[in-house]
Amino acid sequence: MRSTGLSSLALLALGTFASAESWLNPKPRSSACMSNSEARKVAQNFKDLINLPFNTTLAEEAMVPTFQDFSDGVNELINAGCPGPNTLGEATFRSREEFVKGQGTQAPIPFEILNLWSTCDSVHLRWRSSAPGPVTPELPVTGIVAIETAPNPAGSSSEQPWQMVTVFSEFNSGAWLSDIGNFTASCTRAGLPKKPNGMMKVYDACQDVSKSSSSAYAQAT
Ligand SMILES: *[C@@H]1O[C@H](CO)[C@@H](O)[C@H](O)[C@H]1NC(C)=O
Ligand SMILES: *[C@@H]1O[C@H](CO)[C@@H](O)[C@H](O)[C@H]1NC(C)=O
Repeated sequence: MRSTGLSSLALLALGTFASAESWLNPKPRSSACMSNSEARKVAQNFKDLINLPFNTTLAEEAMVPTFQDFSDGVNELINAGCPGPNTLGEATFRSREEFVKGQGTQAPIPFEILNLWSTCDSVHLRWRSSAPGPVTPELPVTGIVAIETAPNPAGSSSEQPWQMVTVFSEFNSGAWLSDIGNFTASCTRAGLPKKPNGMMKVYDACQDVSKSSSSAYAQAT
């Protein structure tokens, strides 16, 4: 009795784990995969929703109504470095309507796509914003986004053959907080941290490596 109870409990736990960790059971590749130009269109839509004056029609065409956007980068910006109001690790926008209401209040932000990759039904990009805020010196912000998509129920010949379902987006929110004036670092005139933290050891270690490799180079030549 006892061991049966335990094993079904273990099975239950395994089942929960497997469903939460959906990457363990990737969907089989379908024959109806997005083309490169369709992937570029999804990426362009994502860019346009950030880079151009907000267009609700575009959001409604390019996203499913149950769209969700996860970004602790954005949560941190909204929280301005405080523990709330948004909970880190939770969705920033829980529907298309929330995205339209939230993103729709934003002024256009400079946005350049640096890399683009796609799978059968997802689009991945690396991007940079030269200066998302007014503060100088401007710190460029670089980020990455994974966009899960689904075929548009309106059909493959519609204006948007693939719609965004889920966005997972992270970026350098430290630089962005500085750009919008919510983080003021204490720097030397040369622009280095006045009070180096533990991470400075990483920098020092890299300096040692490049010094020793350049001296090894000097010896070899
Ligand atoms: C908004 O997006 C729709 C759909 O893509 C497009 O037809 C329209 O021209 C856009 N509006 C503006 C002002 O760009
Ligand atoms: C964030 O920056 C804005 C603009 O400088 C300022 O109005 C606001 O008070 C700041 N918020 C915090 C929490 O520092």
